[in-house]
Amino acid sequence: MTDALVIDTPDDQKTPAWWRQAAVYQIYPRSFADSNGDGLGDIPGILSRVDYLAELGIDAVWLSPFYPSALADGGYDVADYRNVDPRLGTLEDFDAMVAALHARGIRVVVDIVPNHTSDLHAWFQEALAAGRGSVARDRYIFREGTGPDGSEPPTDWVSVFGGSAWERVEDGQWYFHNFAVEQPDLNWDHPEVRADFLETLRFWSDRGVDGFRIDVAHMLTKDLSEPLPSRAELDAMPQDGRHPLIDRDDVHEIYAEWRRVFNEYDPPRTAVAEAWVSTPERRAKYASADGLGQAFNFDLLVADFDAAQFRSIISENLAQSQLSGSSTTWVLSNHDVTRHATRYGLPALNGRPVKQGTEWVEAGGPEEMLDREGGLRRANAATLLLLGLPGSAYLYQGEELGLHEVAEIAPEQRQDPGFFRGSEFDRLGRDGCRVPLPWTADGASFGFGSAVSHLPQPGWFAQYAADVEASDPASTLSFYRRALALRHELQTGETLEWIETGRADVLRFVRPNGWQVVTNFGTEPFALDGGDVVLSSGADAAASAPGETTVWIAPAA
Ligand code: GLC
Repeated sequence: MTDALVIDTPDDQKTPAWWRQAAVYQIYPRSFADSNGDGLGDIPGILSRVDYLAELGIDAVWLSPFYPSALADGGYDVADYRNVDPRLGTLEDFDAMVAALHARGIRVVVDIVPNHTSDLHAWFQEALAAGRGSVARDRYIFREGTGPDGSEPPTDWVSVFGGSAWERVEDGQWYFHNFAVEQPDLNWDHPEVRADFLETLRFWSDRGVDGFRIDVAHMLTKDLSEPLPSRAELDAMPQDGRHPLIDRDDVHEIYAEWRRVFNEYDPPRTAVAEAWVSTPERRAKYASADGLGQAFNFDLLVADFDAAQFRSIISENLAQSQLSGSSTTWVLSNHDVTRHATRYGLPALNGRPVKQGTEWVEAGGPEEMLDREGGLRRANAATLLLLGLPGSAYLYQGEELGLHEVAEIAPEQRQDPGFFRGSEFDRLGRDGCRVPLPWTADGASFGFGSAVSHLPQPGWFAQYAADVEASDPASTLSFYRRALALRHELQTGETLEWIETGRADVLRFVRPNGWQVVTNFGTEPFALDGGDVVLSSGADAAASAPGETTVWIAPAA
């Protein structure tokens, strides 16, 4: 450990396995709460909402990046990994926030972005100044161009956000960026890059951080030996561990080294990989105990509200987690996708903007096509199912208020680089789920802060405000609070057993302690055979589970 400030973890939070079945709430700091009226959420803003988080009943928070950043990609362009963006506060503010969360029994997970830095990072600035062939350039991926004068990019590869994955610098060389132009990819063959991230992990661990979420964990290592393949060749290659850019087997050497650092701490620091890989088997490698330990399972996030899809995803992932020894994770919403209340409220497959985007926008806004009530009913049913599953549940800020995606953001107010570069994976971009939270039904920015928020909030936010919902027992917020409180009783052994229901649109399972979860994906009520219904995602249920509803049943006392 370094001799920096070391914050002790309170004894009652030292359980090393705390993460296995935790409910983790994702905070997108710039859109959570603004304490100083500059329109951007900040760390003191989070501190001011610790009571809210404690009352919600979550076990941990995961903070998306709060580091110094020019916000070319919502903070995922990090200019300094070991500091707080001055617009969001100071390291002292961070320490105060961690202390307050720990005092309420809430663990803290921070985001690590190792695939790329911001172009404003000192290393990249040094690389630009140092020129071709320098050690500084070797920390990134620089190549000569092709064509006359090297004025064509080295390959025809396309970045995730659209457009070429190469950008030319003043002296004529090109650098590689998987994401935005402002996010140059690091060269993970460089020993200094490896050493520096170990220092970053220790820096935050020493400050009391309990775990890490690893951004695009599957892309760090690359095989860029010449000749480089074309885009078509790249796309045709299997992602079996030897692909030049994605999910390479050698990335796990890095995580084995990180694991040794995590295990220097008591309790060991945890990590969860964001790894969009081809199969659950490949995902399990990231979740192994000598690697990061856990990996996001995004299967439900791309599934329809459909019993058969849910059942096979659940079974397959539970089987995989038994193989890896990790616990599985469940996610329905995060800062990169359309909120699940909206996905389930739009017609056709998933309602994902990638499929629906053009029509959705050109129809003049969501009201034309979006079934708000139905979408939320299905979302709450899916959430209650998710919270009843073995493993950890990741929730995204605002879903506890039943927020829908915000579609009504004018092009000039949008911020997502994918929107401007014509991203293929999301035409509308991701701003609609990143709009600052409504805390009160009125006020300059619905209680987010004293100024207008950095992304525009729609008028309908008033009815979803936290203060309105807190005093309404029938609100989504009250429902989440009840579910999260009861979840501690339900989450014992990490297994479930399916109970056949005789209906293709109804799923039912029992946990080792006798708690049952029944989800009716259909519209006809499903008769229940006794048991004490302790919670319903919809209308009160006793004798039957209404359509598009999940109920929890406790064993008879
Ligand atoms: C991850 C993040 C996303 C970001 C990208 C590049 O997918 O979740 O928000 O844009 O990585 O860092």
